[in-house]
Amino acid sequence: MSITLDSPLDMHLHLRDENMLSTVAPLSAKTFSGAIIMPNLVPPISTKDELLAYKSRILEATKGHTFKPYMTLFFKPTYTKEFLESVRDELTAIKLYPAGITTNSEGGVAGFDVEELRPTLTAMSELDIPLCVHGETNGFVMDREAEFVSIYEMLATNFPKLKIIMEHITTKESVEALDKFENLYATITLHHLLITLDDVAGGMLQPHLFCKPIAKRPQDREALRRVAFKAHPKVMFGSDSAPHPQHAKESCGCAAGVFTAPIAIQVLTELFTQYSTIENLQAFLSGNAQNIYSNIEIPKKTIVLEKEAFLVPNKYGDVVPIYAGETIKYSIIERKEI
Ligand code: DOR
Ligand code: ZN
Repeated sequence: MSITLDSPLDMHLHLRDENMLSTVAPLSAKTFSGAIIMPNLVPPISTKDELLAYKSRILEATKGHTFKPYMTLFFKPTYTKEFLESVRDELTAIKLYPAGITTNSEGGVAGFDVEELRPTLTAMSELDIPLCVHGETNGFVMDREAEFVSIYEMLATNFPKLKIIMEHITTKESVEALDKFENLYATITLHHLLITLDDVAGGMLQPHLFCKPIAKRPQDREALRRVAFKAHPKVMFGSDSAPHPQHAKESCGCAAGVFTAPIAIQVLTELFTQYSTIENLQAFLSGNAQNIYSNIEIPKKTIVLEKEAFLVPNKYGDVVPIYAGETIKYSIIERKEI
């Protein structure tokens, strides 16, 4: 039996720049209609000129595909309403990183002083620009996301009109927060639906599964699965596919990030089928995001999958994907782009 998916969206994607961009961008553009593009380049995307230039490099790298890059800026509390108005038409969201918490986030927010953030977040609410947040404190690594929930609550109550997206949630505490505040939403990755900390560090250390936030306990994965599999209307797929060259992963001081983009849809299909919830994949992979990000334009694209073995390549360029060298159960057999 074949499975048809319309206009899949990846609401959290790292495409990088230069050679890496040329390697990875077509792999997403082939199967996804669009993706929210993370701004954590070096230096981060924080001006209109940088955003427009990066967008055209992405369009160049994805030429020949129907693919929409939804652009973001790296949050700074110095953004004024005038500046945001001037960039509004080119911007889908703004990504907030706590300072130093993950790859290229050194210029992020330190301290979370609500009064310091107020002018920019008020302007974003007024202009209906969603705030995407990497929600981790700098506490003990397994507790960072749960500790950050109080910051989400502070943001959600102080800025009730601001759409706040809890990015790549990994814990049951974040899942619980979703239903407490009307303006909180979340993305969920493929890898956090698949693995727990045991898969990363329970046996031989698996650098290609190391990411931020780190995969958590079985009960956390269970909470994520519960909302993803039923396509809870406030959650959407965001791969957080984060490519690093092989030497940066297989080294002393492993870079954080799991590269999933080329096989994400196939493995999601396998997972949703396995849990008898395949009828909800369309909403998780596209419909919910369309409702949450209500003003985005979505190119039409149809993907047809069948239960047919697919051998995952050992590498795409210099990047090792999840399941490298292993066989997954579903293959994409047809793509229709308009
Ligand atoms: O694992 C991660 N990798 N988490 C992030 O938040 C950033 C990402 C990256 O850019 O490599
Ligand atoms: Zn990310």
